[in-house]
Amino acid sequence: MTDAARTVSAEQTLVEETLLNNVLRSFERAEDPRLKQIMQSLVSHAHQFVRDVRLTETEWQKAIEFLTAVGHITDDRRQEFILLSDVLGVSSQTINVNNAAIPGATEATVFGPFFVDGSPEIELGGDMSGGANGEPCWVEGTIKDLDGNPVPAARIEVWEADEDGLYDVQYGDDRVACRAHLYTDENGEYHFWGLTPTPYPIPHDGPVGKMLEATGRSPMRASHLHFMVTAPGLRTLVTHIFVDGDDLLKHDTVFGVKQSLVKLFEMQAPGTATPDGRDLGDAAWSRVRFDIVVAPEQGRSAATQAA
Ligand code: BEZ
Ligand code: FE
Repeated sequence: MTDAARTVSAEQTLVEETLLNNVLRSFERAEDPRLKQIMQSLVSHAHQFVRDVRLTETEWQKAIEFLTAVGHITDDRRQEFILLSDVLGVSSQTINVNNAAIPGATEATVFGPFFVDGSPEIELGGDMSGGANGEPCWVEGTIKDLDGNPVPAARIEVWEADEDGLYDVQYGDDRVACRAHLYTDENGEYHFWGLTPTPYPIPHDGPVGKMLEATGRSPMRASHLHFMVTAPGLRTLVTHIFVDGDDLLKHDTVFGVKQSLVKLFEMQAPGTATPDGRDLGDAAWSRVRFDIVVAPEQGRSAATQAA
């Protein structure tokens, strides 16, 4: 509780608690018990917040204006509400709650707004960059289940920003680049060419960007490559890998970094032989290994089991 909240008189406290209790009671007859629980908890926390900071009416008005602006900029292509949830860490916390650590399974992280259905399929060893600018990166690994069995024919979706920090969809010209899907082989192995990830800002020309600026926060995301892995009977895994040594690992604006997802991207000098014999001329390149372990679809999480 803040100092301001602590100086509230007993009479005033009674007024405030009576109101809160009235609002909580108004949800008592909700037929859906989960909806009732969510609404009552939301109201309790919202009232607690207003009382804790002793919110002024001007501040309340500003908050309404901010949320209105978030709504106005949101359309089929731009989802400012998700962005707001992301920068407040609410998306990451929801992922934490729903993907509670299963020992041995690869950790999940935020989905982000740049996944597009219908990505091109590439062969194992193919290039997902689609000619976009950036340093070539050889990505390889395995997909296994929790018992260590390889998962053949798992579908892997990969997507990332180009060297200029933009996803293909941000160019607005229908190009398709830096996104693809491929399948693991009979040993659960995969490999492909992508680009060495580089840092980029989240869209910050709207109200969320203004909020970040007003609070002295950066809009930058740590460099990353997105993965989504699906296979029958296994839990869908949405995750990224991050670049070891990236200065932004501690300051990712959407709080998506998990230490287990930070990987060593080994830099290769120009002329170094490539794993598949591809001739990269005088270009430097990198390579990274990401071994993925996917939990069973129905498996109860460790946190749920402990409860
Ligand atoms: C992304 O990684 O693509 C992303 C995630 C959250 C907000 C904005 C972008
Ligand atoms: Fe991203």
